[in-house]
Amino acid sequence: MLSKKKIAVIGAGHIAAALVGGILRAKLVNKGSLTLSRRSSDTLGELKKRFGVNVSTDNKKAIKGADIVILAVKPQQAGAVLTELAPAVHEDQLIITVMAGLTTAWVNSKLGRANPVVRAMPNTPMLVDAGATALSKGAHASEGDLELARKLFASVGETEVVPENLMDAVTGLSGSGPVYIFMVIEALTDGGVKMGLPRLIARRLAAQTVFGAAKLVKETGKHPAILKDEVTTPGGTAIAAIHELESKGLRTVLMDAVVTATKRSEELSKVAT
Ligand SMILES: NC(=O)c1ccc[n+]([C@@H]2O[C@H](COP(=O)([O-])OP(=O)(O)OC[C@H]3O[C@@H](n4cnc5c(N)ncnc54)[C@H](OP(=O)(O)O)[C@@H]3O)[C@@H](O)[C@H]2O)c1
Repeated sequence: MLSKKKIAVIGAGHIAAALVGGILRAKLVNKGSLTLSRRSSDTLGELKKRFGVNVSTDNKKAIKGADIVILAVKPQQAGAVLTELAPAVHEDQLIITVMAGLTTAWVNSKLGRANPVVRAMPNTPMLVDAGATALSKGAHASEGDLELARKLFASVGETEVVPENLMDAVTGLSGSGPVYIFMVIEALTDGGVKMGLPRLIARRLAAQTVFGAAKLVKETGKHPAILKDEVTTPGGTAIAAIHELESKGLRTVLMDAVVTATKRSEELSKVAT
């Protein structure tokens, strides 16, 4: 039961604030059950005003009595923060980490305790409640722990559960993916501008086209290739453009982008752990 849980968030930055906003909008817990922590007291004051939650610059105080501790500092700050938290953590506290590239085993080893740890890889569309978050449970976490974490992230978008060894692939696809699509929107906009459309109109048309195509894939459940064939008139404009995209290797480029980002995520994880 999430509604009875107390949640501490260590590292109340962008990702954490987006998640807290979703949790409160979905009424998963009361604002009094949430405590946010970061070093800047000015920004904490703003967060307190915005969300009505408890705030603290003292990480150890923030996690006292919490059932769930969400770790959302940058990966470079993780070692120091976990060392600081280790003496104050209780083994029954569920730790949820959104820190890229850091394994649940690494979190357990830094804490020196067998806490249940769930790892989440969200993406920035969670800022507008359209996130895609993959979750994995560590060695000491139960299905129930995973479900609690999943419910929290479901307040800011969609969730998938994957084995932890696939988290680098998730980083290469949905974690980094918004950037690929921003580039697609920018390029489509430029194409429209080149052909005479005013830039603002071109950008709005490009963004809505990406949004609408994604919505069609999700809501019809049809394979994208079927949707493509359905709107491709023989001898028409779409097939002429498809020929161009195929000859320039659009699909290979996007597949390669996912492969390269996944490999980079693997490299960064090795450096961090
Ligand atoms: N952005 C993304 O697309 C994305 C996607 C998936 C996962 N992630 C992961 O999400 C995490 C947070 O990313 P973000 O973009 O939200 O970064 P961010 O805005 O920089 O948030 C990190 C926060 O940690 C706080 N902090 C730093 N040192 C601290 C300490 N010793 N104790 C308590 N708080 C401390 C910082 O505030 P103060 O300086 O005030 O302390 C800052 O607000 C990262 O680990 C990242 O890998 C990000």
